[in-house]
Amino acid sequence: MNNEVPNHVAIIMDGNGRWAQKRGLKRTKGHQKGAEVLKKISEYVYDKKIKVLSVFAFSTENWKRDKEEVDYLMNLFIKVFKKNFDSIKEKGVKIVFSGLKDKLSDKVLKAMDEMTSETKNNENGIFNICLNYGGQDEIVEATKKIAKEVQNGTLDISEINSKVLSKNMFNNLPPIDLMIRTSGEFRISNFMLWQLAYAELYFTDVLWPDFNEEEFDKALDSFGKRDRRFGAVKK
Ligand code: IPE
Ligand code: IPE
Ligand code: MG
Repeated sequence: MNNEVPNHVAIIMDGNGRWAQKRGLKRTKGHQKGAEVLKKISEYVYDKKIKVLSVFAFSTENWKRDKEEVDYLMNLFIKVFKKNFDSIKEKGVKIVFSGLKDKLSDKVLKAMDEMTSETKNNENGIFNICLNYGGQDEIVEATKKIAKEVQNGTLDISEINSKVLSKNMFNNLPPIDLMIRTSGEFRISNFMLWQLAYAELYFTDVLWPDFNEEEFDKALDSFGKRDRRFGAVKK
């Protein structure tokens, strides 16, 4: 039992499409409902004194979907970024993005920039949105940045350690304590591979559009009962 509040919670918000299909609706309706759920959960998380929330909004693999669905999601992001996060901004949460900029439209990039610049001095928490994100890409990009420093002579190979790696990720975030994935899938899907190293994993069959504060509390309860040993033996 650790009975602690996790410092960094990460969520793979999965199951939007199936939620809609079960109701005979278009997959995009599931994304719409999913965005409302994220608004509520993001507010709840910071009320619970959790400092960092990371969410998987769009993966580098999600470009494989039909153009109609991808376009819908991109427009939804713009709308949501403009409207849905005023309350967490007011709570003093800093909003950051993780992912590659390529393939994203100017409109999406502009909406992202507005969110980050408006909140850049906030210190009460961090909301990390993974958009056009892949965990392997993040490590590859960090490797390139580090290699460049070595090449320039500003960093010696002997100085490379896990701290240096973390600093060169899209954002220098603390390790993830609790990772939640909805919709009954038991995989990581290329999400935050570096930061998940010692995270406690929580999987639920609930589809993301049905997720709520009560379901979030269940994940926290489960986390509270975990015995986190980090490789050591408890006396
Ligand atoms: C997660 O829900 C949202 C995104 C990947 C953008 P899905 O769209 O993957 O929903 P399912 O898994 O097909 O039900
Ligand atoms: C992971 O979900 C990506 C997001 C939630 C944004 P996917 O639905 O894309 O992942 P797979 O296809 O089940 O691995
Ligand atoms: Mg899915």
